[in-house]
Amino acid sequence: MTALEAVSDRPAAAGQATRDEALARDVVEGLTRSPKRLAAKYLYDALGSHLFEAICELPWYPITRGERALLTRERDAILARLDDPATLVELGGGNGEKLAILTAGLAAQDRAATVHLIDISETALARAGRTLARHSSIAVRGHRGSYADGLRAAVAELQPGRSAMVLFLGSNIGNLAPSEADRFLADVGAALRPGDSLLLGTDLVKPEQELMLAYDDPLGVTAAFNRNLLVRLNRELDADFEIEQFAHRVVWNAQESRVESYLVSQAEQTVCLPGADHCIRFAEGETIWTESSHKYRPDDVVDMAARAGFAYGAQWIEPAAAFALTLFDAP
Ligand SMILES: C[S@@+](CC[C@H](N)C(=O)[O-])C[C@H]1O[C@@H](n2cnc3c(N)ncnc32)[C@H](O)[C@@H]1O
Repeated sequence: MTALEAVSDRPAAAGQATRDEALARDVVEGLTRSPKRLAAKYLYDALGSHLFEAICELPWYPITRGERALLTRERDAILARLDDPATLVELGGGNGEKLAILTAGLAAQDRAATVHLIDISETALARAGRTLARHSSIAVRGHRGSYADGLRAAVAELQPGRSAMVLFLGSNIGNLAPSEADRFLADVGAALRPGDSLLLGTDLVKPEQELMLAYDDPLGVTAAFNRNLLVRLNRELDADFEIEQFAHRVVWNAQESRVESYLVSQAEQTVCLPGADHCIRFAEGETIWTESSHKYRPDDVVDMAARAGFAYGAQWIEPAAAFALTLFDAP
């Protein structure tokens, strides 16, 4: 694979003063590595968030159906863990429809709640806000930003003496490398207080063919979701990626128990990103690693949270989708 060549130290052009410095920095860092990579969080611009919603509706993507079924089936057991009024904090909740299963249950029981939504995507936050505003007894607080920044902002608003439940659903944790997941859970544990809880949704290991279809579907929606990252870089960093020159590829890495998503350069080419002051050379067949989706065994989930000091509460499994919801008490 070819290394990346940084070729320009031109200053930002006029009008670019408001460019996303973090995006520019991360993209340069990721595309000048060998092998190249881009952070999965950048998949979620407005179109990316809409495409992810479409993925959730695909017959080949079992995660959403399985988790919705579990939340519906176990709703009362989960709601019984909440204070009155209830406090829920969801990290990376997307369109808010899963959380809405719980808030509808609270409203049906005439219980009030405050929900804190943390998401890097403005589009997802706006969608979730609308979804959750259906019940006047549910107050919604949105925190746009990374998991860490959003959690800090939400925790600062928690009422003393009233417990909170943090939700991390959709197997979002699977996008983190094992060491990142350990650090993430330790940070969540450190932010919570005794009496608080964590509800963690995790996708379980399943046959390779099912995983391949979930991440590379026959309609090409997952491919569009992945390739849209380049559309975003063209728009936000004024880049000149030729989208059709990058193919979507998915690999099951059995040893690491993860699906890896790549964009594969279809030709030798050079792409310039004036908004990041760099041009990047690609060899034919060279990859950009854009996402990992780790798959777990039920015990892995319990062990992972235990390393961060969380105490096991309950675990529910949906066998058809091979998906687990696990409830923990905060350290
Ligand atoms: C895979 S989607 C899952 C959405 C939802 N949890 C579900 O199960 O349908 C991930 C969500 O987390 C958000 N997200 C991804 N990385 C993030 C990060 N580092 N900080 C905050 N939000 C993030 C995305 O914008 C998106 O809404």
